[in-house]
Amino acid sequence: MSIWVRSSTNIALIKYWGKEDFDYNWPVNDSVSMGLKDLCSLTSSRIVDGDCESGYIVYFNDVLLEKTDLKFLRIKNFLDRVKSEFGFSGNLEIKTKNSFYSDCGIASSASGFSALTVSCILTWTGSKSLDELEKIGFDIQKLASISRWGSGSSCRSFLPGIVWWKRGDSPFEQQVVQIDDLGWELSDTIVIISSTAKKIPSSEGHKLASRSPHFRKRVQSVDKMIQDLLVAVKQHDIESLGRIIEIDCESMHRIMDSSGAGYRSQECLEFLDKFKKIRDQIGIGAYYTQDAGSSVHIISEKKEQPKVVEVLKKNFSYELICDEISRSSLSVFE
Ligand code: DP6
Repeated sequence: MSIWVRSSTNIALIKYWGKEDFDYNWPVNDSVSMGLKDLCSLTSSRIVDGDCESGYIVYFNDVLLEKTDLKFLRIKNFLDRVKSEFGFSGNLEIKTKNSFYSDCGIASSASGFSALTVSCILTWTGSKSLDELEKIGFDIQKLASISRWGSGSSCRSFLPGIVWWKRGDSPFEQQVVQIDDLGWELSDTIVIISSTAKKIPSSEGHKLASRSPHFRKRVQSVDKMIQDLLVAVKQHDIESLGRIIEIDCESMHRIMDSSGAGYRSQECLEFLDKFKKIRDQIGIGAYYTQDAGSSVHIISEKKEQPKVVEVLKKNFSYELICDEISRSSLSVFE
């Protein structure tokens, strides 16, 4: 019987863009995300006997990855590091799938690496549950810190709802904290502007960020933005939340555009322009954000989502994916 790990993805409300330490994915600023309920990665792994030169056999969305595939190499490099750091042994066969498009701004590396981390550590340690892992020293913070080596944003997928990734004073003092949102029912309506994979992986984009003349200014302003966002969450004030996430999204994309790692197509800009006009005309509480990819996330209160969908369907012909805030993040099942 295989053990599967399910991990929800997350959409950043205040973005992680730029790193101070690339080995540990220590970000230049704190970030905050909202976990999504249905968009997730599912991963299972098992020890394989016999010859397996590279140490891993990986199936991604049911397709065997070539040993030269960049996805395979990223997974291998990460797992080799985990293996050597903790003295684990055993070649692994890994099956991993996403319930959504990859590499187009729906944070597949966040759910992917969190599920991968937990699955492989369960297998290597012969554990069957998160409780068992905690008993042998791998609690959620520890797992999140390991997963972060693979992809920074994955650490926010270890907790449900609104999650604050605190950078701390060193790469070893990072932390993820769940924000009490008092049951605020938020939704995310994702507009698939294009499902083709982005040209510049986020890991490459992070490296270019500090070239932007706007980079330092944003880093200095993030703490205040987060404090304001926390107040908006506490007060269930969607207008303030929306204003803050749009400002931060624009600020990150300004850095991306001016550092040579732009992720917004003309089509995307036209969509945003038209969306804002319509939204303001009809006065609907819906606000956008966008990660390193072409998909646009429209955040609103859940009760407004049917109206958001209606407006988007009436005015655009893009595929929509409807999701909402997660109330549980990681699960392990047989
Ligand atoms: C724009 O976590 O994908 O989505 O740590 O190099 O894997 P690596 O980068 P990644 O960066 C995500 C950037 C972002 C914003 C965010 O999720 O906060």
